Amino acid sequence: MKENELVLLVGPGTYLVKISDRKLNTEHGSIDLFELEKKKFGDRIKTHTGKEFMIIKPNVIDVLMRKAKRLPQIVTPKDVSMILAYTGISPDSLIVDAGSGSGFLIIFLANYCHEGKIVTYEKRPEFFEVVKKNIELVGLKNVVAKEKDVTKGIDEKNVDLFTLDMEDAEKVIEKVFDVLKPGGWLVVYSPHIGQVINVRKKIEKLNFTQVKTIENIYREWRVGKHTLPEVSGVMHTGWLTFARKVF
Ligand SMILES: C[S@@+](CC[C@H](N)C(=O)[O-])C[C@H]1O[C@@H](n2cnc3c(N)ncnc32)[C@H](O)[C@@H]1O
Repeated sequence: MKENELVLLVGPGTYLVKISDRKLNTEHGSIDLFELEKKKFGDRIKTHTGKEFMIIKPNVIDVLMRKAKRLPQIVTPKDVSMILAYTGISPDSLIVDAGSGSGFLIIFLANYCHEGKIVTYEKRPEFFEVVKKNIELVGLKNVVAKEKDVTKGIDEKNVDLFTLDMEDAEKVIEKVFDVLKPGGWLVVYSPHIGQVINVRKKIEKLNFTQVKTIENIYREWRVGKHTLPEVSGVMHTGWLTFARKVF
């Protein structure tokens, strides 16, 4: 392993660290991160108090969730999972997305569609910089980020899946319809119910089928002597509206 490589340390706690001349301080003692240079994935390393950590190669999602910069609103794993499951998208698909935000949704999708291509549009330069950095950080090569207002035109054609997570999404749905292949999916993520209503009105005017809006309610459970649902956590993220182009 070499300097600056990202490594996941899993033991009493999980840490994503960069190999460097720094020390990692945990509540179970410290680890000299330079020592990792002499190790390989699958080896173990001990803190100065003797606690063991396993050295693991981080995957795209480890890096995304632990190191990527997050702008206020991202699409979370629970909602991404619904997109993959309901659209039945395959790993070689062409996916187009707007707006990129911090790129969480497209990175999840690109990690799954590793033989395909994902194109994302972002109109704000400061967010475009963030999404570019996040794509580089996770190391995916099948994502193209474009600094462009998607309402001004879409360059791609024969799209398998078009995801929209932006204000006024309804304004671009007609253009999206035109570039979807027959049988291709539109999925709109809307944090507010007023947005869902506007999107549904637009979808009804076009030749879409299998239209539905869902909310995925997710609750973790605390398992122990007294097992019970967590009383706080992510209570609301957004609604997902699905629609499939007929012809
Ligand atoms: C909530 S964020 C998207 C978050 C993203 N899905 C994620 O998971 O990280 C919405 C983004 O849409 C962008 N946006 C809004 N209207 C747009 C448009 N017409 N064209 C391109 N991007 C747009 C905004 O600048 C913002 O960055």
